[in-house]
Amino acid sequence: MPIIGIDYEKCNDCNICLTVCPRLFSRDKEQDKIVFNDPQNGCNLDGRCIAMCPSDAILHEDLGEVLSFKAAQNPSTLIPYETMHKFMSAKRSIRGFKNKKVPRAVIEQVLNSMKYAPTGANIRTLECTIISDKAIIKKLSDSVIDALIATNSPNYAEGAKKAREIGFDTIFYSAPHVMIIHSTNPNDSMNSTIALTYGMLSAQSLGLGTCWIGLAHGVLAASKEVREKIAGIKGKVWGVITIGYPAQKFFRVPPRPSLKIKGLDELD
Ligand SMILES: Cc1cc2nc3c(=O)[nH]c(=O)nc-3n(C[C@H](O)[C@H](O)[C@H](O)COP(=O)(O)O)c2cc1C
Repeated sequence: MPIIGIDYEKCNDCNICLTVCPRLFSRDKEQDKIVFNDPQNGCNLDGRCIAMCPSDAILHEDLGEVLSFKAAQNPSTLIPYETMHKFMSAKRSIRGFKNKKVPRAVIEQVLNSMKYAPTGANIRTLECTIISDKAIIKKLSDSVIDALIATNSPNYAEGAKKAREIGFDTIFYSAPHVMIIHSTNPNDSMNSTIALTYGMLSAQSLGLGTCWIGLAHGVLAASKEVREKIAGIKGKVWGVITIGYPAQKFFRVPPRPSLKIKGLDELD
């Protein structure tokens, strides 16, 4: 049980933990203090009690690092809307990469951001496979193109086949790394999309470019052979992106249609 109790030397009896998680914490009337109830698997380990205790009095173990920085209380002070909006709107799918590997420490920064993505019921079952071997990326790309040809997908197959003949990779665009998110949990589809989106935004902040590769996702999800024998993955594949240093520049943000929205008129 990673949440293990209350440090009474720090506890100021404010009741916040009780309101955050009435399963783990309750008030003992006789002792007139908050007590910790081991809920036996009733805790989803999202750590809100740790994060919301003003006096850092929740005892825990094996949960990993707790970050403590002033802006955690008010994240909007870190990035103003205008900056965030520009950052997000300038995020492009990158389809050309420098012939340069991303250092492990930088990839680790991206992965470190991905771990803060929310997951349903805080169930943390996602796994990530990073393929950086050119020969394996080529094999994967070939299997995607072969699958497109086999399914006679007219939009892509012909072009991809012709491009392959002249050594141009229209699946991964010669990216130095392909990141595949997968798991054995059948409910991880949405979780993985959010995690990869966190990763892509984090990557952009580090000067990296990324692109979703739905074509490879489709083939990896459908073919056990490609998944296990080429990518070395067991379980379900939920998403695929490329990652590397961009060799493409965008001078402006292209226009995008607005979402179709209902309910705005009801707002002031
Ligand atoms: C789910 C998904 C799958 C995608 N699959 C591919 C793909 O297989 N190959 C590719 O080149 N781009 C792929 N893209 C990128 C889209 O084409 C791109 O996001 C869209 O054209 C908008 O361009 P932007 O990302 O530069 O704004 C995919 C994007 C998403 C969200």
